[in-house]
Amino acid sequence: MQLLALKPSSALETRAPVDPSSVKKLVALGINVIVESGIGIASQHTDKSFEEAGASISDNAAASSKEADIVIRVDKPTSSEVAQLKPGSIHISFLDPFANADLLEKFAEQGVTAISLEMIPRTTLAQKMDAISSQANLAGYVGVITAAERSQQIFPMMMTPAGTISPSKVFVLGVGVAGLQAIATAKRLGARVTAFDVRPEALEQAESLGAKALRIDLGGDTAGTDQGYARELTEEQLKLQQEAQAKVCAQSDIVITTAKVFGRKPPVLIKKDVVDQMKRGSVIVDLAAETGGNVEGVVSGDEITTDNGVLLVGLENFEGRVATHATQVLSANFANMIDHFWDADSKAFPISLDDEILKGCTLTHDGSIVHERFSNSN
Ligand code: NAI
Repeated sequence: MQLLALKPSSALETRAPVDPSSVKKLVALGINVIVESGIGIASQHTDKSFEEAGASISDNAAASSKEADIVIRVDKPTSSEVAQLKPGSIHISFLDPFANADLLEKFAEQGVTAISLEMIPRTTLAQKMDAISSQANLAGYVGVITAAERSQQIFPMMMTPAGTISPSKVFVLGVGVAGLQAIATAKRLGARVTAFDVRPEALEQAESLGAKALRIDLGGDTAGTDQGYARELTEEQLKLQQEAQAKVCAQSDIVITTAKVFGRKPPVLIKKDVVDQMKRGSVIVDLAAETGGNVEGVVSGDEITTDNGVLLVGLENFEGRVATHATQVLSANFANMIDHFWDADSKAFPISLDDEILKGCTLTHDGSIVHERFSNSN
């Protein structure tokens, strides 16, 4: 059984699907691990360190892809890369499946089993392979560190002979995995933190980290789904939310937005008129910028300053800015998944669509799109 770990196709992607420690774990299962040369450059792992962990190095990704039984990578492959995969093989990566219907067709046509990391169900058993969470946690941390670095203010209160410096006011919008880490990081730096989420259960978690919860009566049921995700708000609810938030934004020095709705474009939570009322020198970091943004006017992959002096940070791949640790936990997610499903007797990764986890994240199998949310019959 050969497993190939490939480099990403995007130059912006710094993370790798393996580190030497995950290679050791895979090798211990009896897997022949091959890694593409240079895979660990950004995450600070040399080819030599992968060899020492038991992997072989490939200088020819296309040729190795034709041989591999399992291919793992961080980003989605191009359609020509899918055409290089061995029919019957398994491919595991982030696939952004809601935006890549053509790619799913291509996987099916090629007879490759495509597993999407985004679709791993949020169950206790699957937590060790939940790459969305392992990465969102780091994105929340980096979002706050980025804001602290861009701001011309410090976060903690300081009492000095020259007078007292007030703590920065940080507003975290969306208290999921990234938002909770953003709160914890801002608190550690000494900021005064306020938080809002549509899910009431998330507000309690925010309070347990020492944040002040902004409570807005949106009417109706706003509890999360059984997977913990937020439901989409109605236009009316969104309007109520925007009004209540405007005042907090105007008083904040830093706003971190993390609000997403799984499988859909993120909601716009901060409109231009709210940004217009914010203080000169305030910083907004929009962790949802890459998929459309929570803030009107934010530019994905860029930082812009508005006319009234508010910096809108819409950088992509926040977690990729801490590539070593992002790779460490992501590699562990991959290795845990393979270990979990590994059949030691046959030395194989059998795909059973009766399994809850595989049913949730396997999109194509045996030449067709098998996932209920993406198959043509739905
Ligand atoms: P996400 O990245 O999809 O969304 C981020 C946050 O934005 C969520 O808390 C969501 O409620 C919030 N949001 C959505 N629309 C909003 C709006 N209009 N205004 C304000 N906030 C809004 O979610 P994430 O972070 O991936 O996970 C959400 C929750 O899922 C977690 O807090 C947790 O409860 C649950 N979860 C469960 C896991 C498990 O059981 N294994 C693993 C990971 C998460």
